[in-house]
Amino acid sequence: MAAVQPHTGAGLIELLLGEHGCILALVRSMERRLATMGLAELKGCGAALEAVLQAHAVEEDQLLFASLEGVPPQLHTALEAMYGEHEEMRRLLEELRNVRQAQRARSMLLRLIELVREHFAVEERVLFGLVRERLSEERLRELGCRYAQRRGVESC
Ligand SMILES: [Fe+2]
Ligand SMILES: [Fe+2]
Repeated sequence: MAAVQPHTGAGLIELLLGEHGCILALVRSMERRLATMGLAELKGCGAALEAVLQAHAVEEDQLLFASLEGVPPQLHTALEAMYGEHEEMRRLLEELRNVRQAQRARSMLLRLIELVREHFAVEERVLFGLVRERLSEERLRELGCRYAQRRGVESC
């Protein structure tokens, strides 16, 4: 019987951290233009953020959080909070699609940006470290491989 080949690519947490970096760069560029944008542009920013945040949250929910079974209370609390914030972001983005006033859209985008920053910071400071204690490097690389396949960027 052939030996199972170990996964040699990046681990899921490194891939998610790379996405945090990209999303934060997008957020910074939006933030610089926020004060001068009209309603259509503000909604365009909302649509762009929705695309990247949704894609990111789906991978976290389905690949990372779902692979943590029988989690200790400390991690369970952090996971519940992260799930809740993913939902809050979805609600804000949905609301933003229906807004008709530029000022309201702007303040909603600012709230969303603040939430994204806080959320990413907690994941990086607390959650990812707890996950690394629970899942082996090999398991994280295997999840990284599944992430890459789902995104259509690599076959492994
Ligand atoms: Fe998240
Ligand atoms: Fe994240």
